[in-house]
Amino acid sequence: MKRLVSGIKPTGELTLGNYIGAIQQFVKLQDTLEDTEFFIFIADLHAITTPQDKQLLRKRVRDIAAFYIACGLDPHKVTLFVQSEVMEHALLGYIMESTAYIGEMERMIQFKEKKQKEKATGVRTSLLTYPALMAADILLYDANLVPVGEDQRQHLELTRTLAERFNSQYGDTFAVPEGYTPKVGAKIKNLQDPTKKMSKSEAETEKAYILLLDPVAQIKNKIKSAVTDSDTKIYFDEKKKPGISNLLTIYSALTERSIEDIVKQYENETSYASFKQELAEIVGNHIEKIQKRYLELINSKELDEILDKGAETARLYARRKMTKVLSRLGLQRKK
Ligand code: AMP
Ligand code: TRP
Repeated sequence: MKRLVSGIKPTGELTLGNYIGAIQQFVKLQDTLEDTEFFIFIADLHAITTPQDKQLLRKRVRDIAAFYIACGLDPHKVTLFVQSEVMEHALLGYIMESTAYIGEMERMIQFKEKKQKEKATGVRTSLLTYPALMAADILLYDANLVPVGEDQRQHLELTRTLAERFNSQYGDTFAVPEGYTPKVGAKIKNLQDPTKKMSKSEAETEKAYILLLDPVAQIKNKIKSAVTDSDTKIYFDEKKKPGISNLLTIYSALTERSIEDIVKQYENETSYASFKQELAEIVGNHIEKIQKRYLELINSKELDEILDKGAETARLYARRKMTKVLSRLGLQRKK
């Protein structure tokens, strides 16, 4: 049996880009990877490496959990929990800080970039040491597989280094995790400037992105008013036709039809009108179903029951592991 571990940072509201690029991929993994246990957690301790509003943080943690389930993550197959509810993450995080060298942390590209952004409000120490906490998140569960995007690969490499260093200094304790690059979901582009990625924080207008919580009528309008070129032919060419190519990507991701097949359907059209109209319905209806389940969850006890149970299961693994780690270090009073 293999174990897959991944954390989701609860910052920002979820967009259609997050859904197609990340959430949908997770759900596919859950449905296709055999002999693999899944541990997925909301990484709230990672969120506080930069200042957070407490009401908003609380809302986002619940929202993300509810959305992942609404989008198809199955709590019977996956242990879903909130990181700060399993205290062992922070304890092993500290032990990983005591395993890593300061130079290793200072070399992390993400730290160098984020440090610049945080200068005005003060750079928290945890922004520097965050990769040690991420290593702990992974090693606590003896993860074999860790799905990571490009920006997290360096942190995963460090995790492997720390696991090997600890194992050689104190005896075999941790499984050394493998990075796992799942087939990446398509990159979804800004609807008003399709040369940029769809991102709420970087957009100049609300029409540039679709939030999973946008009213359905608004979602449809955003698709209909997406910027496209003045030609009328529908085909995929990211350079010549970035707007249409982006819409085709969205169409394909939500219908699970190939782009080729969709292009064929519209080959005799003399304008983009019916293509956009039909895609607006597809996106609107797809998100409407997700919102319905999200609303059921967010207002019921079911969500808390799932997260309570997830934390309970995670704690069992984490405690067992920490007993071993503490004893390896001599941090154990009784023999
Ligand atoms: P972020 O919201 O940027 O922290 O990203 C969270 C996850 O969503 C990461 O796995 C990203 O790769 C993915 N993601 C965010 N925006 C997009 C987008 N426009 N297209 C595809 N994937 C995205
Ligand atoms: N650092 C990851 C991010 O910013 C989130 C994360 C925290 C994570 N702990 C993890 C991912 C452990 C994989 C495994 O997206």
